[in-house]
Amino acid sequence: MTGVGDRQPPFGAPLDARGDRAGGRLGRPGGEARLTECVGRKEGARAGTMGSPTLVLGIETSCDETAAAVVTEQGAVLSSVVSSQAALHATYGGVVPEIASRRHLELVAPVVRRALEEAETTLDQVDRVAVTQGPGLVGALLVGLSAAKGIAWAGRLPLVPVDHLEGHVASLYLGPEPLEPPFLCLLASGGHTLLLAVRERGRSERLGTTLDDAAGEAFDKGARLLGLGYPGGAEIDRVAEEGDRAAFPFPVARVPGLDFSFSGLKTALLYAVRELGEDEARRRHSDLAASYQHAIVRALTSRLREGAAQTGLERLAVVGGVSANSALRAALPDVHFAPLDLCTDNAAMIASAARYVQPLPYPSYLGLDAYASAA
Ligand SMILES: Nc1ncnc2c1ncn2[C@@H]1O[C@H](COP(=O)(O)OP(=O)(O)OP(=O)(O)O)[C@@H](O)[C@H]1O
Ligand SMILES: [Mg+2]
Repeated sequence: MTGVGDRQPPFGAPLDARGDRAGGRLGRPGGEARLTECVGRKEGARAGTMGSPTLVLGIETSCDETAAAVVTEQGAVLSSVVSSQAALHATYGGVVPEIASRRHLELVAPVVRRALEEAETTLDQVDRVAVTQGPGLVGALLVGLSAAKGIAWAGRLPLVPVDHLEGHVASLYLGPEPLEPPFLCLLASGGHTLLLAVRERGRSERLGTTLDDAAGEAFDKGARLLGLGYPGGAEIDRVAEEGDRAAFPFPVARVPGLDFSFSGLKTALLYAVRELGEDEARRRHSDLAASYQHAIVRALTSRLREGAAQTGLERLAVVGGVSANSALRAALPDVHFAPLDLCTDNAAMIASAARYVQPLPYPSYLGLDAYASAA
């Protein structure tokens, strides 16, 4: 892999550059990318823990977040560092794959280094390296996969390839109150909307999926129609707070089984905006956002309840970026949600999922490839 290992100091070295804007430049010849808009979480430190817990280093680069985390085998998050590229892609109204790959290339080493530093550990102490293998943008995935292979190979460590969607489910197994299967899980993210029966950790059965757009995609496209920023879900969530959710009677698609559909809803919003005209639509954008969000929330909650009735599964959970939505959380008070910082992409969930996947021994993983789509 070029650009990460060859001109960087060792991963254990302290960070010397923080909080500095890269100024939108993709390349930074001869220098290391600086971490911008980086958020972290820490539940505990290695220092002071009894004995030496098994440590999993997780790496996630499937879309536009460069993330690394250190998680113990018991599920304690020692560090979780996420550097979002959202600002970089906002100009284009969505993720530009080539830009995402290049940015991951710049950020993956400093993000891994910071995750180790915040966990108060070094690569010597890490027992396994976990990485997202797919689904996602292949160019983006390959950056994380190559970095993980390099780190694992250099330390003669096993590598654990993780499915990104299993990662989202495994966000529920972290923290002080992990959820135990069996449960019914709604995974609502930027690329997927799935209803899953989770009967044991690491294994889920797909009961329903979207026939067109994902729920997060519906939020993002709706936000674009309303002239709101990217990523759209959080923007709609924010603007909807001041709106009347009953102002526009947007439809919930009726599809057979436990599947979902959001493309008709998006078209309904488009027609409503056209009918109102640009000025009036802008004036009423909080009502439009609240009504649109309410339709998505109704679609998701009704499917979750139907799935529960059909499967008899009593415990319900929601994961993925859309699970950060405040209206969805309010509509499902009896349902388990991952902590807010583990809803959108992060590497702690990848390290968590790796605990239930057979590791590949050193050096059998060097030829491992990424995959773009869920099977
Ligand atoms: N508060 C919110 N309300 C609604 N949607 C939200 C909120 N916050 C984030 N989202 C949506 O979550 C999505 C991003 O979630 P996530 O990072 O899990 O998706 P992804 O990784 O891009 O897709 P996938 O996991 O399917 O590969 C975006 O579509 C975003 O609009
Ligand atoms: Mg995701």
